[in-house]
Amino acid sequence: MADATALGMPSVRTPRAPQRIGQSYHIRTFGCQMNEHDSERIGGLLTADGMVATPTLEEADVVVLNTCTIRENADNKLYGFLGALRAVKNRRPGMKILVGGCSAQKDGDLVMERARWVDAVFGTHNVHRVVDLLDHVDEWGPVTEIWEETTSTDDFPSYLPAQRETPHSAWVTIAIGCDNSCTFCIVPTVRGREISRRVGDVIGEVRSLAADGVTEITLLGQNVNSYGRDLELNGRRPVFADLLRQVGAVEGIRRVRYTSPHPKDFKEDVALAMAKTKSVCEQLHLPLQSGSDRILAAMHRGYNASRFLSRLEMARDIVPNLAVSTDIIVGFPGETEDDFAATMDVVAAARFDQAFTFQYSPRPGTPAATMGGQIPKEIVQDRFDRLVTLQNQISLEKNEAAVGGVEEVLVEGPSKKDPTVMTARTRGNKPVHAPGRYEPGTYLRAEITQAAPHHLLGRVIS
Ligand code: 5AD
Ligand code: SF4
Repeated sequence: MADATALGMPSVRTPRAPQRIGQSYHIRTFGCQMNEHDSERIGGLLTADGMVATPTLEEADVVVLNTCTIRENADNKLYGFLGALRAVKNRRPGMKILVGGCSAQKDGDLVMERARWVDAVFGTHNVHRVVDLLDHVDEWGPVTEIWEETTSTDDFPSYLPAQRETPHSAWVTIAIGCDNSCTFCIVPTVRGREISRRVGDVIGEVRSLAADGVTEITLLGQNVNSYGRDLELNGRRPVFADLLRQVGAVEGIRRVRYTSPHPKDFKEDVALAMAKTKSVCEQLHLPLQSGSDRILAAMHRGYNASRFLSRLEMARDIVPNLAVSTDIIVGFPGETEDDFAATMDVVAAARFDQAFTFQYSPRPGTPAATMGGQIPKEIVQDRFDRLVTLQNQISLEKNEAAVGGVEEVLVEGPSKKDPTVMTARTRGNKPVHAPGRYEPGTYLRAEITQAAPHHLLGRVIS
């Protein structure tokens, strides 16, 4: 590992002398990339304390669940999982169970009330405290620690040692939290207000990762376009477009992605930075949420359908071969058949490469949860199925257009279904399966031979 300080990074906190040498841990992560990133840091802290990762949960001395609460089924998954863990803990009473992440932040003491076999509950602002909490458990017994916010940028998980899963790809957080108030969303409650990292810290981390052999970087933030608003000094603030150029210019970095921009703030400067910076991939995740102006207003999204479509057109004009994905919620309170038809129209017009579609789920404490006009499950399901059918057709047509072309792909590893086939990713972030065994992290050129809605088939040509 390169010396982070020499590369301009703030020094990673110096861990104490390892005290849990030889003990094992297993981390199970639910939810988004921000949680994956936090889990890498939790793994890094436990490793620094002498522990080793084990793929077998049943054998682990410490099990950490890093939880998600974005929709109700994420919470249900947690409690289902904790139920199953009870039997394991009965067999191995010495096992420690820790629950962190967004459900923990939201539910706090309730987690332990519902699952008394849990040893520690910690919030999204307490990731750096995981080893101290284990010490507390050993000495005093069960503990819950949930802070309201991250008060110091030094407590960003980004400054903790990391145990990364993939040697060639890494996530880099540029901001935590969210200052928006989309009425369906629990993220601002569980992740707090938005705090940006300083440009020098972000670039320092990217340089250090590049020195470690990383070639692909994904920048993370709940709303990357508002990056730097809180860093304004004497009327000047760093902007995301500049950060993107600077990250893209770091030697050794061949691919840069980012997630997510907010359509209300996505401007030409970012599209231009994408087009002008070779390493920034032709990929954009622009969450639509709904195609109805009435519903978009009720969601507090700050744009209407026509503005969304014109921003998308602008991005496609500036960035050739742009692959676009989106998020859509079906069945927001008050959604009529006409509102849903408007969503279908925008989806047909936008021709996304991919859409992540969700059924609206009321989240406690969010304004939408108590709005009138909650939609019955059968109606939501019916609309959801129609939307998925339309999008699958569009995704297939988009992927078919790639057949016969040649794409640069980055090898991820053997395919899960067939080890004689490898899975790689195009710059547009589409999975390609091709015969052969190749080292993960290798860049190859593949001819695309066949298309399906959610993947491509190909053959390596060089
Ligand atoms: N119900 C359904 N989907 C939701 N999302 C966020 N909150 C909810 C909710 N309450 C979706 C949005 C967001 C994605 C990460 O999850 O589409 O962009
Ligand atoms: Fe949630 Fe809206 Fe913030 Fe995204 S921008 S995290 S949807 S509140």
